Amino acid sequence: MKLIVTGGAGFIGSAVVRRAVGEGRQVVNLDALTYSASLENVASVAGDPGYAFEHADICDAAAVAAVFERHQPDAIMHLAAESHNDRAIDGPIDFVRTNVLGTAVLLEAARLYWSALPPGRREAFRFHHVSTDEVFGALGESGAFSEAT
Ligand SMILES: NC(=O)c1ccc[n+]([C@@H]2O[C@H](COP(=O)([O-])OP(=O)(O)OC[C@H]3O[C@@H](n4cnc5c(N)ncnc54)[C@H](O)[C@@H]3O)[C@@H](O)[C@H]2O)c1
Repeated sequence: MKLIVTGGAGFIGSAVVRRAVGEGRQVVNLDALTYSASLENVASVAGDPGYAFEHADICDAAAVAAVFERHQPDAIMHLAAESHNDRAIDGPIDFVRTNVLGTAVLLEAARLYWSALPPGRREAFRFHHVSTDEVFGALGESGAFSEAT
């Protein structure tokens, strides 16, 4: 199985990359290397034949499409984000650009790529958007969130 992981040089994305490579999957780490990235996070797998790095901005539709075309993934795990929430107070546009526009660019690239896949691969293809618990809303005094919340 070949995965594209966006934001794979970040805190959580790099753990996903290390784990997936360790499990023997082919992993393409697509990351723009912003202030929150560190390739040190994936240094332990950088020499693995199953690992590839693509320095790209998820808002760049042509670059994202080229990565899909080059690597022909079975799934994408999307973790690239402006994640340091307090920075949104001083610079909200960067958050809208990456988290909203970038996600839309990725979704559209994935949709176009997915449309051209043969039926079996199309059914199996997954777009996994890793976000944050706040998207579920307020939990209340007890209980737990689920994917259906
Ligand atoms: N860290 C946490 O405790 C936590 C908790 C809940 C949810 N999350 C969510 O998980 C996801 C990943 O969080 P994280 O802590 O790993 O973030 P992070 O800030 O450590 O890493 C983000 C990565 O995305 C990359 N990136 C940013 N903008 C990009 C762009 N335009 N194009 C390509 N790459 C870009 C950065 O270079 C960086 O490597 C985010 O959606 C975040 O909101 C994180």
